[in-house]
Amino acid sequence: MKEHVDVLLSNEVIAKRLDEMAAEINAKYAGEQVELVCALKGAVMVLVELSKRLTMPVTLNFMDVSSYGNSMESSGNIKVLYDLDEDIAGKNVLLVEDIIDSGRTLSHLREMLMKRNPKTFTLFTLLDKPDRRVVEVPVDFVGFVIPDAFVVGYGLDYQQRYRNLDYVGVMSFIEE
Ligand code: IMP
Ligand code: MG
Repeated sequence: MKEHVDVLLSNEVIAKRLDEMAAEINAKYAGEQVELVCALKGAVMVLVELSKRLTMPVTLNFMDVSSYGNSMESSGNIKVLYDLDEDIAGKNVLLVEDIIDSGRTLSHLREMLMKRNPKTFTLFTLLDKPDRRVVEVPVDFVGFVIPDAFVVGYGLDYQQRYRNLDYVGVMSFIEE
């Protein structure tokens, strides 16, 4: 089977949308410091591109969580592989995600971070696949609502590859 990727959101389209969203975030937090939290690895490219557009004082923090179990679907029981290296108590936390699918992982991650008493907690995602939602999660900033397809690029992977594409594409498999 040959792997094939069709462009869904070009780099130009994503860049324009990030400009709009950054303007909203800049207005919302004017004069305040924001702690950007990136869920590795998928959200790395979004974090970098978004952060370059923000005008308030910003810090970057990373964490890596994995779902227990080995099925294609995330179980949502998360294990922390790498934790934030700073306390978020009393801070404006903006969690940056690449995509929200079932919402299971995110809902556990949100619960975990909320227990650390941030001043505010806001959720940002580049992509949202609402058709797949199993657990409701309140999302404050959504870049694009997309149909239920498997997408790669702009941080998203298929078997760890394609994360470096500067666009989001729909993955398909063609018989050779
Ligand atoms: P969930 O919301 O707990 O189901 O898991 C979301 C995670 O699954 C994302 O952070 C991605 O790592 C991965 N994921 C979901 N949909 C896709 C996709 O279309 N392409 C690549 N990864 C995906
Ligand atoms: Mg992710």
